[in-house]
Amino acid sequence: MAVITLANAKGGAGKTTAALILASELARQGNRVVILDADPQRWITSWSEVSGYIANLEVISHITPASLPCHIRELKDEADYIVVDLAGARDAIVALALGLSDQVLIPVQGCAMDARGAVQILELIRQIEQKARVRINHSVVLTRVNSLVTTRALQAIKALLASRGVSVLDTPIIERAAYREIFELGGTLQTMDPNRVSNLDKARENAFALASEVQSLLPVTPRRALMSRLRSLPRAA
Ligand SMILES: Nc1ncnc2c1ncn2[C@@H]1O[C@H](COP(=O)(O)OP(=O)(O)OP(=O)(O)O)[C@@H](O)[C@H]1O
Ligand SMILES: [Mg+2]
Repeated sequence: MAVITLANAKGGAGKTTAALILASELARQGNRVVILDADPQRWITSWSEVSGYIANLEVISHITPASLPCHIRELKDEADYIVVDLAGARDAIVALALGLSDQVLIPVQGCAMDARGAVQILELIRQIEQKARVRINHSVVLTRVNSLVTTRALQAIKALLASRGVSVLDTPIIERAAYREIFELGGTLQTMDPNRVSNLDKARENAFALASEVQSLLPVTPRRALMSRLRSLPRAA
């Protein structure tokens, strides 16, 4: 079981969209996935209510700092992946979720490169790592990237961030109508109608590439035992 958290203190960075694309693709591939909806605005919960049953995918709402570690402990043997969707803020649950994650993904909008929210999360990760003497694997994922942006331009952004010690996923999340409409229509990229949603095939390919890369980052058995992580957590601010 691996815990993947989407974090960026900036609102609207693309966390919920990335969480849903990733979780639903991992579930499509047969993994048992649970999304912990830790955002009081409950976007993923609303999506799940519209969607009804989706194979291999469960959504748990109303996650609090007290309930988060309990859910993770309980799901340890039942789920292959737990995906945590955080609110665009820097509150107690953010620090807690970061400390419990096998992989933190920080969505940053590729075009604007407004990375302030991302920098806050990177700082928080460093603080927790120092305080708790643990390592928190984390990567920036560029999102809402225009489909016309060249690989070379993306490589330049990647190199810039790498020079500051930040790793960036090779797979950017492209700006796609399907990723917006999924929240209105419910269901998944697989249940959408290709005649109604433009470039749906490209969105599916992008989701596949994202999930493959994220899976390749995660060890088969999480590096640190869950219990030791739960013990080593700093007290949430
Ligand atoms: N790859 C994408 N393609 C198209 N639209 C996107 C994409 N990513 C995000 N969006 C749109 O951008 C807006 C913000 O995205 P999202 O809700 O995922 O961000 P968030 O970081 O979860 O926001 P919040 O901090 O409010 O929780 C939404 O309207 C969403 O539909
Ligand atoms: Mg959100």
